[in-house]
Amino acid sequence: MTSATPEETRLAARLREGGFVAAEEEARELLSASRGDRGALETLVRRRLRGEPLAWITGVTRFCGLEVVVDPGVYVPRWQSEELARRAVASLPPDGVGVDLCTGSGALAAVMRRDRPDARVIATDLDQHCVECAQRNGVDARLGDLFAPLPSSWRAAVDVVVTVVPYVPSSELVHLPRDTFAFESTLAYDGGDDGTATLRRVVVEAPRYLRPGGTLLLELGGEQAHTLAEELERQGFDAAETFVDEDGDLRGLQATWRGIEA
Ligand SMILES: C[S@@+](CC[C@H](N)C(=O)[O-])C[C@H]1O[C@@H](n2cnc3c(N)ncnc32)[C@H](O)[C@@H]1O
Repeated sequence: MTSATPEETRLAARLREGGFVAAEEEARELLSASRGDRGALETLVRRRLRGEPLAWITGVTRFCGLEVVVDPGVYVPRWQSEELARRAVASLPPDGVGVDLCTGSGALAAVMRRDRPDARVIATDLDQHCVECAQRNGVDARLGDLFAPLPSSWRAAVDVVVTVVPYVPSSELVHLPRDTFAFESTLAYDGGDDGTATLRRVVVEAPRYLRPGGTLLLELGGEQAHTLAEELERQGFDAAETFVDEDGDLRGLQATWRGIEA
């Protein structure tokens, strides 16, 4: 890697003072986004120092090696969700059918499209800004609640349903990091009392769309896999396997639908 320019070093020091851990990396990204315009750079840096997510300021982030456009107001895809995206790809046959619910910027659907270009993938979100952002990322994104925007011809035909729903318990929203709580929408986070309100709806509604043997991939955390175990069993899911992220925290659940609707 090339050594930092004096301007980068000064900016990184300012960001570090503002409490940003990845100060050098952020300094480079902000400088690049300012395209040499000093006035613009100052505006970008002030936005960042107020805690606005870096991706909203630079307009992009990286997810599974893909540059993903992230418009202001749209949930910034997290590295912790990359394993979920990789598993979605692995469960999607080359000419298969995939669904990404609660797509946000469309990051997971975009990874499925990149790695399975001949598959059909539809993404949904309740927020029109997210739908437009996902479309800018090349995703067939549709506005609506969970499965509602899917064509009825997709019933019993989907190979994989993947989703990062809002799953933070309402009482824990205040503990989210500053960037998150101050700027991002609670629609992206609030999962109700124990965080499983939307997760449960997905588990109940997915069998209508999955083909027998199809895969359900959920991002979740804490005790939520345990909390959902009975509902998964009741809805006809087998072989639920959980997985952890690089920090060793529970991050996801993969289950197979055995093909009998409850
Ligand atoms: C945590 S974000 C995840 C975004 C994206 N999947 C990612 O990982 O970057 C949750 C998203 O779900 C959307 N959402 C919340 N409730 C929804 C619902 N009932 N149906 C569809 N989308 C919903 C929000 O607008 C938000 O974009």
